Amino acid sequence: MDKVTLGPMPYMSVMPTLLVGANVNGKANYMTAAWATVACMAPPMVCVALNKTRFTVKGIDENKTFSLNVPSAKHVVETDYCGLVSGTHEDKSKIFKSFYGKLKTAPMAEECPVNIECKFFKSVDCGSHLLFIGEIAEIHADKSCVVDGKPDTAKIDPIVYAQSAYWHVGKQAAKAFSIGKEFKKK
Ligand SMILES: Cc1cc2nc3c(=O)[nH]c(=O)nc-3n(C[C@H](O)[C@H](O)[C@H](O)COP(=O)(O)O)c2cc1C
Repeated sequence: MDKVTLGPMPYMSVMPTLLVGANVNGKANYMTAAWATVACMAPPMVCVALNKTRFTVKGIDENKTFSLNVPSAKHVVETDYCGLVSGTHEDKSKIFKSFYGKLKTAPMAEECPVNIECKFFKSVDCGSHLLFIGEIAEIHADKSCVVDGKPDTAKIDPIVYAQSAYWHVGKQAAKAFSIGKEFKKK
């Protein structure tokens, strides 16, 4: 074994690049977020860690709703911009065309091929960040990106975040819940 210790830091191997949508003072705001994942299967939930200073936090507190929008790599410029400027200083409501779903107050970006509409469930105060957990009210997806009733990764071309850079998803290594069966044969 030849390991080095790197010290405690907020590391994860790869992360998604998402846009958190929230209405703040009745206006859509989008912020870039990478610290996000699925939180529960039944009911379906997702979670995202937001610094307490984010303008977005005000909107989630205000409406108890938010959205996680999955941008395609072709929108990497707009996506990064939403992580460079805060709604506190600049109106980000026109960067994407917003639409609303069943919750009425969670703005979603039309340009993003998948939009996860969420009802606030609870937040966990972890220190600098609040971990917002949202129950999924609906998944909205571009018809062109749906195959067999599910969002198709290759068609979406989502942005992976790692090492302070944006990446495309690479090629498949193996089929999950399947390749492991080979282990027994060894
Ligand atoms: C690639 C990337 C990922 C980010 N991920 C997060 C995150 O997960 N949580 C967070 O609080 N801020 C994150 N940020 C920073 C916010 O997007 C940034 O502070 C933004 O201006 C906040 O917008 P708001 O104040 O309008 O909510 C990220 C920024 C970038 C560029």
